[in-house]
Amino acid sequence: MNTPGQFRFRRLRRSDSLRRLVRETRLHVDDFILPLFVEEGIDEPVPIASMPGVVRHTEEGLAQAVQRAWASGIKAVILFGVSRHKDGQGSDTWSRQGLMARSIATAKAAQPQMVVISDNCFCEYTDHGHCGVVVEDDVDNDATLANLARQAVVAAEAGVDMIAPSGMMDGTVGVLREALDGAGFQHIPIMSYSSKFASAFYGPFRDAVDSSFKGSRDTYQMDVANGREALAESLRDEQEGADILMVKPGIAFLDVLHGIRQRSSRPLAVYQVSGEYAMIKAAAAAGVIDERAVVMESLGAFKRAGADLIITYFAEQAAGWLQQG
Ligand code: PBG
Ligand code: ZN
Repeated sequence: MNTPGQFRFRRLRRSDSLRRLVRETRLHVDDFILPLFVEEGIDEPVPIASMPGVVRHTEEGLAQAVQRAWASGIKAVILFGVSRHKDGQGSDTWSRQGLMARSIATAKAAQPQMVVISDNCFCEYTDHGHCGVVVEDDVDNDATLANLARQAVVAAEAGVDMIAPSGMMDGTVGVLREALDGAGFQHIPIMSYSSKFASAFYGPFRDAVDSSFKGSRDTYQMDVANGREALAESLRDEQEGADILMVKPGIAFLDVLHGIRQRSSRPLAVYQVSGEYAMIKAAAAAGVIDERAVVMESLGAFKRAGADLIITYFAEQAAGWLQQG
């Protein structure tokens, strides 16, 4: 029994207005980054079976997708290419006529105020599907860095607003900072995929980018069991000059988000990945959860754990729900 004079938590839960007054964290559309897939050589958007509501856009369709996102209040998109020009090194990405450069230019032209971010990696552009140059059955760190530097400069020349290296090569941020500065792009920020795990939650993404990749990325992405290492690697990226840090995936790594938040004052992003999206969609379609409530609770959990920015395939839907209040 609650005796007289005893503290009662429920006093501040009595009405919606009171609950809002003491709410500790909030979602806002300004925090969202929408991932967009662009495929070359297609005439119609291609739905991604495992991710209902997500499509691979045609290059022309990308412009409309950016405008639609802007109209819903979203201020940033991150671009992924689905290439028809793959080779051993992913050389299409350092061509000014390549899909990455074209998509950046298309997105910027469609809505110049949109923050256009490029996912900088090679896996969507290599015929073997690895995130860099393969030497003796493994991805060669430093050869990949040299290629990545070329790729980042081309992205900047195409008009990108932010570079987001996702390949988990050691030394990436330092090398990219130097390359960008050397080419006159001192003003272009780097959002590093600083704590990116070798996660099973990426399954549907590999469908999405039409990757035939069957191998493993365990020699470059982080072991899902490691929290201390995740913190150390994000702090290393901060030292190398990362402007924004990131944890990926989201829901299974809230402790990592929280840990980085305690130790770094850089803005912190989280990536709610394809598998997280697919699970919620599948469960909602089966009628076993309330989609809107589960999405908002999951995105809210990222904020509570310490994220400032949220990369999510739900960005447009969530923007709509936030507008409804
Ligand atoms: C590859 C890359 C991956 C994602 C974005 N860039 C995954 C991978 O390692 O294959 C995952 C995105 C998602 O699952 O939504 N550099
Ligand atoms: Zn990659």
